[in-house]
Amino acid sequence: MAPRTHIAVLGGGISGLSVAWYLARISPPNVAITLLEGSKRTGGWLHSDRINDPLHPDGSLLLERGPRSLRPQGVSGLNTLEMTKLLGLERDLELVPKTSLAAKNRYIYSHGKLHMLPSSLSGALTHPLLAPKLVRAGLDLVKGSSKEDDESIESFVTRRFGKGMSDDLISAMVHGIYAGDVSKLSVRSTFGMLYHLEKEYGSVILGLLMGKGSVETPWDQLLKERILKGMPELKTFDENVSIYSFKDGLETLSKALEKDLRDSGRISIHLDSPVEKMDFNHSNKTVKISIKDQEPVQADMVISAITPRQLYNLLPHSHSELIHNPSVAVAVVNMIYRADQARLASPGFGYLIPKSENSAVNHQGLLGVVFDSCSAPTQDQGSSQGQTLKLTAMMGGHMFDDVVAQSSVHDTDDDSGMTMIKSSDKMTNSNGREQALKSFFEKAAKDAVKRHLQIDSPPEIVKVHIHRECIPQYLVGHLQRMQKLDEQLRKEYDGMLAVTGAGYLGVSVNDCIKNSREVAEAIVSKLEEEDDGEAQLVGKQDAITGLERSWFL
Ligand SMILES: Cc1cc2nc3c(=O)[nH]c(=O)nc-3n(C[C@H](O)[C@H](O)[C@H](O)COP(=O)(O)OP(=O)(O)OC[C@H]3O[C@@H](n4cnc5c(N)ncnc54)[C@H](O)[C@@H]3O)c2cc1C
Ligand SMILES: *[C@@H]1O[C@H](CO)[C@@H](O)[C@H](O)[C@H]1NC(C)=O
Ligand SMILES: *[C@@H]1O[C@H](CO)[C@@H](O)[C@H](O)[C@H]1NC(C)=O
Ligand SMILES: *[C@@H]1O[C@H](CO)[C@@H](O)[C@H](O)[C@H]1NC(C)=O
Repeated sequence: MAPRTHIAVLGGGISGLSVAWYLARISPPNVAITLLEGSKRTGGWLHSDRINDPLHPDGSLLLERGPRSLRPQGVSGLNTLEMTKLLGLERDLELVPKTSLAAKNRYIYSHGKLHMLPSSLSGALTHPLLAPKLVRAGLDLVKGSSKEDDESIESFVTRRFGKGMSDDLISAMVHGIYAGDVSKLSVRSTFGMLYHLEKEYGSVILGLLMGKGSVETPWDQLLKERILKGMPELKTFDENVSIYSFKDGLETLSKALEKDLRDSGRISIHLDSPVEKMDFNHSNKTVKISIKDQEPVQADMVISAITPRQLYNLLPHSHSELIHNPSVAVAVVNMIYRADQARLASPGFGYLIPKSENSAVNHQGLLGVVFDSCSAPTQDQGSSQGQTLKLTAMMGGHMFDDVVAQSSVHDTDDDSGMTMIKSSDKMTNSNGREQALKSFFEKAAKDAVKRHLQIDSPPEIVKVHIHRECIPQYLVGHLQRMQKLDEQLRKEYDGMLAVTGAGYLGVSVNDCIKNSREVAEAIVSKLEEEDDGEAQLVGKQDAITGLERSWFL
């Protein structure tokens, strides 16, 4: 029997839970797993609240603070579906059929009104503006014409289609997916979005859609075959389903993972355990993990599922690749109206707002609005169901800082939010400042909805959440930096450190889960090799870092 191996997972968001779950499923019993989560709960950005409905005492309303929908498409979509089935969550699914309005109608708000987006690749291809150029450009890139290079999405799009295109359609989509700025994000890390128009038309942060950002690797093909062999019934799921969630919201998934992990008896989960430091001992190959106010934990290997910036602070060496990308903040404003007082003239999934529109009419940094009651109609329960119009405005993103900085421009008395932000001191009055920010976003979201959707009655319930550093921005050169980091981690940590999570190779929930699976499987097969005595044959470069994939994208 091989000696016991202890693997510590840092972070209990969807990435950390997934990597622990796959490890627990496939690793031999001599592998012990510990998950260290700094906060009081697992799930990270997955956070669904069920609240009482003041008008219907026997009903309840579901509100999402973070992600709200998943796409079944692609290998990563298939992989999450498999996980969902293995967790026994099939009956909790809330599917949006491709035939529904929420699947078919997606809008862009531009020049004072909503414009329907083409709903399919063929729709886009027949669109006079988009069609021929887009396909030609797509083929160019897939052929690998500029594999070594990278540039911003804006410069790529402008070069090929002219300026108007990136201003409108593409910038709106980038708002939807990354809350990001087309002039800064890497086209290479995000390109799939442009090419696989049909699949990628939409948004992560608005939950519209989101696939993988790029080309499928050979591993993806293999994974697909493996999954379909075990669950052939998933083969055509994506033909009929546009997006999906769960009756109790997306947090259903992270809660089920946590429960399954606890039931497995394979893993110990420590909440309230923020990791502060890691010391790597190369002579006996152990990592000492220091945790705030607790005894340190010793492990043979660490899998980091916290953000790259958080990891940067824990490591003995400075890896600038971990802190090159900023992460933007997003304000999520849930608004609930009574269905008999407010209705949508144009039902559908929701709308996105282009960058150009933001400088003109929309100073508050609105990225887009999701029509939750259309796209997830049965999440409300009891007599609340069908009685509400539920909207979520997403605001801020790459414009968030500007909004705060602009406070002097907006210094009018009717806007209590901005006035307070301006006059309050960041350090001494952070509570007041937070409140001021929240009321600013609340007002801005309500105004926007009124203006864009002609809804005059005020919402009955409004919840505002400001998420800081919540969406990593893959700046130009991202994949090259990840390749460099891959080499550094392999060299400096000798197989004692691997990474997964939204900061590296995909921000969508699906990507996070699939990347975590790849890391877990690679680590387990490495351990098995070592058990078989093959370890001597393979050199150091065989250490797993979780970034191997960056060389294939
Ligand atoms: C508003 C919003 C909407 C979104 N909408 C969608 C959507 O509709 N569809 C979609 O696919 N994706 C969406 N996304 C993206 C997706 O939700 C995230 O990319 C994903 O949840 C990231 O998961 P993660 O586990 O990598 O990171 P996180 O969720 O950030 O988890 C990291 C965990 O690590 C913990 N931690 C941090 N530091 C330490 C430490 N030192 N020690 C111990 N623990 C620590 C944190 O407490 C946290 O629990 C959205 C994101 C946001 C913010
Ligand atoms: C998809 O819909 C078609 C037509 O309604 C149906 O024949 C098919 O069985 C469905 N596929 C799945 C996987 O549900
Ligand atoms: C590393 O481990 C070896 C063997 O247990 C020990 O002798 C040494 O002191 C450790 N080094 C550090 C820096 O703790
Ligand atoms: C490795 O060395 C550390 C000291 O740095 C010690 O605490 C730990 O117990 C050692 N681990 C093993 C497996 O010998």
